[in-house]
Parts: sequence; C-alpha cells; structure tokens
Amino acid sequence: MLLLFALLAGAAAAAFFLFKFATTDGDFTLLSCGQPRRDKVDGKVVWITGASRGIGEVLSMQFASLGAKLILSARNKNELERVKYNIVSKHPDSRVEVLPMDLSSDEESLKEVVHAAESLFSSAGVDYMIHNAAFERPKRGVLEETEEGLKAIFNVNVFGTITLTRLLATSMLDRGMGHFVVMSSAAGKVPSPGQALYSASKHALNGYFASLRSEKRVSVERCAELTIVAATHGLKEAWISYQPVLAVMYLVQYIPTIGYWLMDKVGAKRVDAAAKKGNAYSLNLLFGGKKSA
Ligand SMILES: NC(=O)c1ccc[n+]([C@@H]2O[C@H](COP(=O)([O-])OP(=O)(O)OC[C@H]3O[C@@H](n4cnc5c(N)ncnc54)[C@H](OP(=O)(O)O)[C@@H]3O)[C@@H](O)[C@H]2O)c1
Repeated sequence: MLLLFALLAGAAAAAFFLFKFATTDGDFTLLSCGQPRRDKVDGKVVWITGASRGIGEVLSMQFASLGAKLILSARNKNELERVKYNIVSKHPDSRVEVLPMDLSSDEESLKEVVHAAESLFSSAGVDYMIHNAAFERPKRGVLEETEEGLKAIFNVNVFGTITLTRLLATSMLDRGMGHFVVMSSAAGKVPSPGQALYSASKHALNGYFASLRSEKRVSVERCAELTIVAATHGLKEAWISYQPVLAVMYLVQYIPTIGYWLMDKVGAKRVDAAAKKGNAYSLNLLFGGKKSA
C-alpha cells in the first residue's frame, strides 16, 4: 500500500514537473528568482541600445517604471524621441535622454558616443549597459548568404557591440561598478537552421560575454520583465523561450548527442518552412511532413 502511494506521488510529481516544463517561458533558475529587484536599478543609469522599437522599447518602459535613469540609443532619432515621449507621459518623474548612434560606426565615433553617455546625468557614468540592438535577421539558407550580409550583421551584432563594451568597461572598472546585459538568442546557443549568420553572430557574442539569451515568441513585455529579473538578480546567463525551443536548449546543453540529432532531423524542414513563411517552431518539423523538393 505504502509502495503504491509512493508510486502515485512520484507519478503526480513527474506529471506536474512535465506540465510546468511544457508551459514555461524561461529557464528554472531565472523563474525561481521571482520579481525584478527595484533596489538594484532605482536611480541607476541604464543605457539601452536598440531602444527605438521592439524589445528595446518595452525594456525602456519597464526600466523607467523601476526608477532607472535612461539613455536610449538606436539610429532613428525620431523613433527614440517617440519612445521617450511615451515613457515620460506614463512616468512623469522619469529621467530619459536620447543618444542616437550607429553601431556599425568606426571606433572614434563610438568613443564619442560613450563619452557623451558617461557625461549625461551630471557625469554619473553608466551602471547598466543593455546590448539589445541587432541587425535584421532574415531567414534563408546558408548558400544564399552573401559576404555583404556577413559583414553587415557582424559589424552591428559583434564588432560594434564588442567595441562599445571595451570602451565602456574601462571607466566602469575605474568606478568599480557596472553591468553588461547582452540580449542574445536561442540561436546563439543551439543551431538555428535558416539563420546561420545571425546564429554565428550570437554565438560569437556568447563567446565574449557571460550572456543573456532571449527568444521572441515570448511576448516582448514578458521578455523585458524576465530580462530585468536576470539583470537585477545578477544571473550570469538566463534562457527566455517557450517550448519546444527551451527543451532543445536543455538537450543541446546537457545531452548534446540527442540535442544535435534532433536538430539534424529538423534542419532542412525548418529552412523549407521559413521559405514558405510557415511556422519555423512547429513540432511538425520533428514528427510531420518531409522537406518539399
Ligand atoms: N525578436 C526576436 O524574435 C528575438 C529572438 C531572439 C533574440 N532577439 C534579440 O533581442 C534583441 C531585440 O530584438 P527585437 O526583435 O526587438 O529587434 P528589432 O525590433 O529588430 O529592433 C532592433 C533595434 O536595433 C536597432 N539597430 C539596428 N541596427 C542598428 C545599428 N546599426 N546601430 C544602432 N542600433 C541599431 C534598431 O533601431 P534603428 O533601426 O533605429 O537603428 C532597433 O531599435 C536583438 O538583439 C535580437 O537579436 C530577438
């Protein structure tokens, strides 16, 4: 009887764990942290690249709600002013500065931008650098990629981001404080058929940073929230994604033989699905139809 009870309890616990895993949108360490820590960002200077739209725009709004002083960067000044206007309308006490920049600029230009950022808010320096900007990420097969595309994506995602980090890290070290948060991708952790250059650029970034990964199908609001949880709890790495991507990330990380076997099964069908504007995350890629001719 006792054995039966133990078996039932074990089965219920396993079912609960599987249900939680199937419906989660972040890795277990990240989700166990709970809410963002306001005390870590209130009054701090947070510089966000790629703040003119998407995840960067929502991150900016959420950091403002936690009392951060914001520096918003991207190329499009008008869009940055729009984001600033929306933030100040919602949080009238917030302090927001717009600092347009192009990550593919040369080092001298980036040096000037870093100097300008550090001079804002009475030369308070930068407490959190959120590397969120990224070059566009079209889905296409490896052989369709061009050298021009390779340079364009690496100039922004890798060279610009790393140069900015090197320039800023010196003064962070002098001040004895500062954090880098890198918006990576599941494509920077596991193979991403149809996005080879984007994936290569994010793998390169992961090699440079103790990084933070994200994946879009989670809403941008939830992605921004979990990003701030990871940043304010000092997590070295966090995964934000729905299934099945999260499961594949765990497999590639901890049981690579199975993880890469799965990716091999999915690869060609995923490129095919992307070309047809189908669902590149569907489980059918694993269990269903063949790649079309
Ligand atoms: N959304 C996803 O599906 C997804 C999934 C996984 C990871 N991520 C990562 O999450 C981050 C945000 O994604 P997102 O979808 O919100 O991006 P997005 O909507 O494409 O926005 C990209 C941002 O980067 C800026 N940007 C592009 N080129 C730039 C340059 N040369 N210099 C400076 N800024 C530049 C853009 O502004 P301007 O055009 O005005 O310069 C824009 O603000 C990215 O790092 C991305 O790789 C996204």
